[in-house]
Amino acid sequence: MSGKTVFSGIQPSGELSLGNYLGALKRFKDFQGANDSLFCVVDLHAITVRQDPAQLRQRTYSGVAWYLASGLDPAQCTLFAQSHVSAHAELAWILNTFTQMGELERMTQFKDKAARHKHNINAGLFAYPALMAADILLYDTHEVPVGDDQKQHIELARDVAERFNGIYGPTFVVPKMVAPKAAARVMDLQDPTSKMSKSVDSLGTVFLHEDEKTISKKIMKAVTDNEGMIRLDKDKQPGVYNLLAIYAACHDQTPEEALAQFTGKGYGDLKKAVAEAVVTVLAPVQARHKELMADTAQLDAVLAAGAAKARARANKKLAEVYAKIGFTPRQG
Ligand code: TRP
Repeated sequence: MSGKTVFSGIQPSGELSLGNYLGALKRFKDFQGANDSLFCVVDLHAITVRQDPAQLRQRTYSGVAWYLASGLDPAQCTLFAQSHVSAHAELAWILNTFTQMGELERMTQFKDKAARHKHNINAGLFAYPALMAADILLYDTHEVPVGDDQKQHIELARDVAERFNGIYGPTFVVPKMVAPKAAARVMDLQDPTSKMSKSVDSLGTVFLHEDEKTISKKIMKAVTDNEGMIRLDKDKQPGVYNLLAIYAACHDQTPEEALAQFTGKGYGDLKKAVAEAVVTVLAPVQARHKELMADTAQLDAVLAAGAAKARARANKKLAEVYAKIGFTPRQG
């Protein structure tokens, strides 16, 4: 063990996309073993947007299966569902009281989601980042591997940790975000200036469960530009940049390394290469996911073992926080 604790979470709020895979899932296996790593399906976060119960259950299993299919080994990491470890909700309540309304109002994810769900701008959606801070801080997490879009949330978790430590003395480790070297943010294929979203079903999003034909078709139809040259220019050529970033992430390269392979080539060549790379990377993961989904009892067993491991640690931290705040000790 390197002595580092790593925590990350994915929401079971939609089908997962290529963005979730390249920006997060794909590299999670690199953290297990050498590190103390925890991976969570954050079902409490998912209900900040109304969910159909049967679908939420199915997507939670599916999330666990994607983690496993991406190479996580429950013997080498702690894999669990957030709602199974009640300390997350409990610490979130505490941290709500250390988080300012103004800080939460500035969160772009809140602003986006509030705009998309105008009829259900609930208090949980607003307080979402405090729950995320609780997830991270409960385990003395050093590193949080997440996509770029989570930066503001991680910064808030850091601020809250420092604030609490400032008042009560050293309690929480102040976590750091770690971003992938390529495709930290996979963009929509039809609108490459906005993030590839799993909540919006369109031609612009590649979903992890989609078949080869659909994936290739979506990539071949990706929006590019009229420049006619393959260059790495995020502002002038966001579509081409995105394709290069996806190609790079699939091949574990930097976008610059990917670019070098397309000198003198056209957009059609680039798209074909990207489609092939994506299909090749996803095929074995999809096959494993399908196998795992056929046996939810086994997934329940994985979750039960993971929750038991997580619970022991989380409850210890929670007790420390409760004591510092001045709650009387829990008897039993
Ligand atoms: N907010 C994250 C997302 O939407 C999911 C998440 C919840 C998370 N808790 C976390 C990620 C803790 C990392 C660590 O992607």
